Amino acid sequence: MSRELSVVVLAAGMGTRMKSALPKVMHKIAGKPMVNHVIDTAANLNATKTMVVVGPDMPKLIEAVSPHPTFEQTDRLGTAHAVLAAKEALRGLMGNILVLYADSPLFTAETLSRLVAAREDGDHAVAVLGFRPADPTGYGRLVTDPGNGELLAIVEDKECDEKQRAINFCNSGVMCFRAESMIETLEAIGNTNAKGEYYLTDAVEVARANGNSCVAVEVAEEETLGVNSRSQLAVAEALMQERLREAAMANGATLIDPGSVYLACDTKLGRDVIIEPNVVFGPGVTVGDDVTIKAFSHLESCVVGDKADIGPYARLRPGAEIGAGARVGNFVEIKKAVVEDGAKVNHLSYIGDARVGAKANIGAGTITCNYDGYRKQHTDIGAGAFIGSNSALVAPVSIGDGAIIGAGSTITGTVEADALVIERAQRLDKPGWARVFREKMKALLGK
Ligand code: UD1
Ligand code: CA
Repeated sequence: MSRELSVVVLAAGMGTRMKSALPKVMHKIAGKPMVNHVIDTAANLNATKTMVVVGPDMPKLIEAVSPHPTFEQTDRLGTAHAVLAAKEALRGLMGNILVLYADSPLFTAETLSRLVAAREDGDHAVAVLGFRPADPTGYGRLVTDPGNGELLAIVEDKECDEKQRAINFCNSGVMCFRAESMIETLEAIGNTNAKGEYYLTDAVEVARANGNSCVAVEVAEEETLGVNSRSQLAVAEALMQERLREAAMANGATLIDPGSVYLACDTKLGRDVIIEPNVVFGPGVTVGDDVTIKAFSHLESCVVGDKADIGPYARLRPGAEIGAGARVGNFVEIKKAVVEDGAKVNHLSYIGDARVGAKANIGAGTITCNYDGYRKQHTDIGAGAFIGSNSALVAPVSIGDGAIIGAGSTITGTVEADALVIERAQRLDKPGWARVFREKMKALLGK
């Protein structure tokens, strides 16, 4: 796509109905703030410039959208006023300027691209994405010419007469402007209306009065969902998850029960990955080819190599790197640790701040004691080492290649390669003691 395109994202609303300390558009869908979904969609359209209009006192939002420039709309005087907050940055732009709401994260790049193309097609001053909801109440209505289909006006719900209120073709909020005439158009918009606001939607009538044409493009209602409440946030999450699951399967992953698998927008799955039911992916997960992730596993910010086998009930936390053919079994937690190729951590272990060498075997219940209350310390386990069950490895500690640790050991110092180390209390045997004890008790208590 060679056409020139800039984007203004409206994110000034606090979203009181969310009942949150966080600006509404910072709430996440599939692990990513809504505003970043919108910005990333714009990036997929090859937008050359993306500007974000924010409200007063939203430092976290400004940080989240960085390095994109932000413009503060101090008083909330309407959507046209909001766009004009970025006026200085809009000046001199050419081609298309797309206005998006940061609380509407489901528009696809394909749809937006269709809108931009329609705007360019007839060199229209404004192109609007419209949809047909079952109940149009609350939306601006798109008034079109029955003859040529041109968009004549957008009439806000509160301004509609009876006939206009019956129209069910509605404004989704997404509008594309001819950059060269946009500022002039917006500055001519007044606020003599029911809400006393500068309506961006009035741009259509203003542009037409100046001899321009406008056009509406239809989009499926599903894409237009705006999030105003936690309940709508959950609906948007569900729709996004459905898309991500479909994409994962289309790319060659098997999801045995797709509805119970939660993906992040950046989850990367290789070919012939099998994901069992009830698996949750946080952000930043990359999975290689031929991996099976068994039921009830939770993964975030980690890498899983080809042919590895994860779960059931595994937890891979940030910085876990699982090598090719490695095995992480049930009730195992791995954090900031490299488990090299072919190593096995099969049962009930915590491995944190560590390296587990290639083909090492970590027995059930092994714990790396990585934290002394102040510092995190490293555990190094060599290739082919065998750690007996229920061992505690007190970091910093290093186990050489091929060493064996006896079960139940608490290891506090370096273990040489190929050594056997058992570090546990000496065994004490008292033959017959138990029988004598029982007989004494019977004599004393009669039972
Ligand atoms: C708007 C449209 C309406 C459309 C509907 C779709 C206008 C006048 N109306 O109505 O035609 O059907 O969206 O959902 O544009 N905002 C600011 N600053 C402001 C006002 C709004 O940043 O001063 C932001 C809001 O945070 C929100 C978006 O713009 O993200 C839309 O504003 P809102 O007040 O919700 O407009 P609606 O009345 O829903
Ligand atoms: Ca709204």
